[in-house]
Amino acid sequence: MRVVRASNAAEVMSAKAEAHVKLNGWVVSKSTVGGVVFLLLRDGSGYVQLSAKKGTTPDSVFVAMKSATRESAVTAEGVVREDKRAPGGRELQVKDFTIIASAETWPITKSAAKSASYLYDKRHLSIRGRKVIATMKIRAEVIGASFDYFREKGFVLISAPTFVQAAVEGGSTLFEVDYFGKKAYLSQSAQFYEEAALPALEKVWIFQPAFRAEKSRTAKHLTEFWMIEAEQAFTEQPENMALLEGLLAFIVKRVLERRKEELRILGRSLKELSLPLPRITYDEAREFAARKGASFEWGEDLTTEAERIISLSHESPFFITDYPLSARSFYHMTYRDRPKVTRSADLIAPEGVGEIATCGQRIAEYEELMERVRSQDFSAESLSWYLELRKYGMPPHTGFGIGVERTTRWIAGLKHIRAAGLFPRTMTRISP
Ligand code: 4AD
Ligand code: MG
Repeated sequence: MRVVRASNAAEVMSAKAEAHVKLNGWVVSKSTVGGVVFLLLRDGSGYVQLSAKKGTTPDSVFVAMKSATRESAVTAEGVVREDKRAPGGRELQVKDFTIIASAETWPITKSAAKSASYLYDKRHLSIRGRKVIATMKIRAEVIGASFDYFREKGFVLISAPTFVQAAVEGGSTLFEVDYFGKKAYLSQSAQFYEEAALPALEKVWIFQPAFRAEKSRTAKHLTEFWMIEAEQAFTEQPENMALLEGLLAFIVKRVLERRKEELRILGRSLKELSLPLPRITYDEAREFAARKGASFEWGEDLTTEAERIISLSHESPFFITDYPLSARSFYHMTYRDRPKVTRSADLIAPEGVGEIATCGQRIAEYEELMERVRSQDFSAESLSWYLELRKYGMPPHTGFGIGVERTTRWIAGLKHIRAAGLFPRTMTRISP
């Protein structure tokens, strides 16, 4: 009696020859050579070649395979054979074949695919491409690794609202929404809610979307992106940096372990990180940029050009530490003996990618934070609950936010951040 097992492409590629299997998938391509029709089938696990020979395969099966159009959903049943000519050295010799949902003529032709904007207009279809699939599988490892990393370190995963009333990272990139006649915004960062959760949970992390009305059309800005943020009580900045670099190293290792094939498809060579990552100060970064003709004033954030040049000068990710207060949000703690310099750092990816995370120590004392709020001249009203936290047992604490798409962009070696999202949102794109 023959054994038929429901299977998938990955299982077929590692199955014993002569195994009888059945699998579902989509038609990637088709060719007929002599009396043999070959179909490349894709499913969630990978790719496998199907073949059917006229005369050997039942006629109706042969005809069905020949008529299957690209991207039709199909079911195939057959026998696994070793064949050096097949991709991966294996194919499925088909005994039965059914078209489940046939596809019209595929609109993404070779010449149409040369236009990036066309591919993004057709993103609902173009995401079936090999490189997009590889990228999404790598992205999923970036996220999955974070869950494992924080669980192992005893961090509690929390959630926070998306409708908020306060800016975490400055008012200029807020998306305003009408909340029953009141002004509300889409959250830029969940940091303040994490801080509020500290006295309850001590070590928390969060994984959720963040929104920024970025008017810049660059390869690193999305208007909606996913952020992984962590916050820890009773800590100082060095421990915070160690937690962050540990996370990135863990993610890279995980991707190398589980997504070799996807890295190959993307032509990406990636190496394990060796910790601790290099650290340079903001002042050193500024001097370096100036020597390369990209000078900027002390106190300003790095210009795009300076960030790019410094990023290109490193082979592995590294930290830039000690940013001026004037380039940071109000909650940052400064050094006692250097009141204009914050205990904060950016994690910079090499190869021109630039910032992928920001980390820092927060002001824990009420008066100090109020002073900052006053001096920066904004309303304390919407922040009242955040400020009040400092009256009820707020110890020294630190945290960070790392962007999922920026991290994926660097790990997968993508030219543009939009390729790191399934349906990216930028200033000029809100569909599909
Ligand atoms: O550096 P940011 O603005 O820091 C914060 O929001 C802190 N409150 C986080 C925290 O400490 N809990 O954002 C953190 C990271 C950036 O380093 C970057 O990776 C990503 O979020 N990010 C963006 N990614 C894509 N498009 C944008 N417009 C981004 N803005 C920030
Ligand atoms: Mg930042």
